[in-house]
Amino acid sequence: MTHLLEARGLVKNYGHVEVLRGTDFVVDAGQVVALIGDNGAGKSTLVKILSGVIQPDGGEILLNGNPVVFKSPIHARKFGIETVYQDLALAPDLGPAENAYIGRELLRPGFLGKLGVLDKARMLREAAETFTSLGTDVKDLDAPVAALSGGQRQSVAICRAVMWAKGLVFMDEPTAALGVRQTRRVLDLIRRVADSGIAVVLISHNMPEVMEVADSIQVLRLGKTAAHFTAEDADLDKLVGAMTGSIEVIA
Ligand SMILES: Nc1ncnc2c1ncn2[C@@H]1O[C@H](COP(=O)(O)OP(=O)(O)O)[C@@H](O)[C@H]1O
Ligand SMILES: [Mg+2]
Repeated sequence: MTHLLEARGLVKNYGHVEVLRGTDFVVDAGQVVALIGDNGAGKSTLVKILSGVIQPDGGEILLNGNPVVFKSPIHARKFGIETVYQDLALAPDLGPAENAYIGRELLRPGFLGKLGVLDKARMLREAAETFTSLGTDVKDLDAPVAALSGGQRQSVAICRAVMWAKGLVFMDEPTAALGVRQTRRVLDLIRRVADSGIAVVLISHNMPEVMEVADSIQVLRLGKTAAHFTAEDADLDKLVGAMTGSIEVIA
């Protein structure tokens, strides 16, 4: 079967430390796949490889069944893959709309087409369309994001990724710093993104949240795929067992 994105036998070493030791990973369109595992299991490393930040030392990546090498995050973006990183990376002095366009600013054609002028009106309009369609509660798209709550900043980061993602969004611990209500909003947003046909890979430590929002759950342990559950099969004991190794699910 052809998957949107598939990783086979990924290997990554840092010096003598084997971080990924033959990791497999699969995600399909319109799915929320949760990636869970103990601290240091290799989750962020896997996401960095699958989004072009770092290169694997072995294994292969298939996009729609075809082998690909993501040379950089910008290269991965060309394939419709976006990432919300663990450390948010928004520009605090810029508004949500400008943040959404960092590095991809819309230019108005300048004199003789030489100089571009930022087309702020169009950026605001198009960002507003995305933010509204995703149901976020950020009202002023022009006010500095520094003034927003943590949850609102997180939804700006997610909207920015979703705006550009054509196939897949990776989210590394998007709710880790959020309170209960803000987490609720972000989870609803994740579900809406998936329902729009985009795949979401969610890294999270929060098992109830994972079981609620994910269609399938992949467990990493010590750099290897330890288990793979559908949402219906998963329960807390099984997930924790697979994370800690007290249950041997996949040999
Ligand atoms: N740039 C790096 N250099 C050396 N070791 C690293 C580097 N990045 C990650 N590691 C190590 O790889 C392991 C997995 O890290 P990481 O992928 O961040 O795990 P997780 O996100 O599951 O907590 C950890 O032991 C970590 O110390
Ligand atoms: Mg991590």
